[in-house]
Amino acid sequence: MALVSTKEMFAKALKEDYAVGAFNVNNMEIIQGIVDAAKIENAPLILQVSAGARKYAKPAYLIKLVEAAILDTGLDIALHLDHGEDFEICKKCIDDGFTSVMIDGSKHPFEENIAITKQVVEYAHSKGVVVEAELGKLAGIEDAVKVDARSATFTDPQEAAEFVEKTGVDSLAIAIGTSHGAYKFKGEPFLDFDRLKEIHSLIPDTPLVLHGASTVLPEFVKRCNDFGGNIPGAQGVPEDMIRTATKYGICKVNIDTDLRLAMTAEIRRYLIEKPEDFDPRKYLGPARSAIQSMVQHKIKNVLNASDKR
Ligand code: G3H
Ligand code: 13P
Ligand code: ZN
Repeated sequence: MALVSTKEMFAKALKEDYAVGAFNVNNMEIIQGIVDAAKIENAPLILQVSAGARKYAKPAYLIKLVEAAILDTGLDIALHLDHGEDFEICKKCIDDGFTSVMIDGSKHPFEENIAITKQVVEYAHSKGVVVEAELGKLAGIEDAVKVDARSATFTDPQEAAEFVEKTGVDSLAIAIGTSHGAYKFKGEPFLDFDRLKEIHSLIPDTPLVLHGASTVLPEFVKRCNDFGGNIPGAQGVPEDMIRTATKYGICKVNIDTDLRLAMTAEIRRYLIEKPEDFDPRKYLGPARSAIQSMVQHKIKNVLNASDKR
């Protein structure tokens, strides 16, 4: 039981057509809900920390909480920086003990993205840390429905092959139609599986990463709205699309929005049903359990990662 690299996790996932869940963490209850689920499912696990999470909880608290989770569960866990925007934040996380970092140079022109990714790869590899990069831009809702916009923003397969070759990056996040948050599609959900297959055929040994992969389970949206919330028109990626993606090289599936919805739904329900309570443990406990059962569902039924540890 230790903080581990994603290298072995991805090699096995790539071979056996399943994906490792990468869950965003911001506090103790979220971490506990996720690790308890991974333990019960006997699944490999990545916990990831965004710049926003670092700002909210402070890096030292998050790192110590993840170390505590390892001690408590006996699990091996990869600790990953999500969407690092420059070399400095990647270096800071590597120096703090993260086992994996993402350098997100997707907003830069191709050559600049290569240069910044290469710089992070060189430093990370010298410390035994792996690197995820991103090529292409995750769709906005408008982009996802316009075919013209797809080729402008989705990952170009030839560029993906050149990017991996030139940077030596360990895994690559690609844009095929998903987006962050609870509003992913305006009309019919669409993921560009032809593009994914082409990328995977050109770089078959590179683990691919799907960001914006929350399925936005209707039961949690409904529960939020039944108890005073107002989340209209939320739409996630259908579960069967995630399952399909894992057959074509997607080894890491990023989930944050579903955690937020599960937690908020439970807190809303509890406080409305028990207005006399004001002990945070009374509503954070059920919120933690809701996260646990949602993560178990993902691991077992969507990622196919049960018993893959
Ligand atoms: O991709 C973004 C993740 O959901 C993290 O979100 O920057 O609000 O922590 P955040
Ligand atoms: P969701 O907003 O779909 O949960 O995506 C999270 C993500 O990609 C984190 O990097
Ligand atoms: Zn993301």
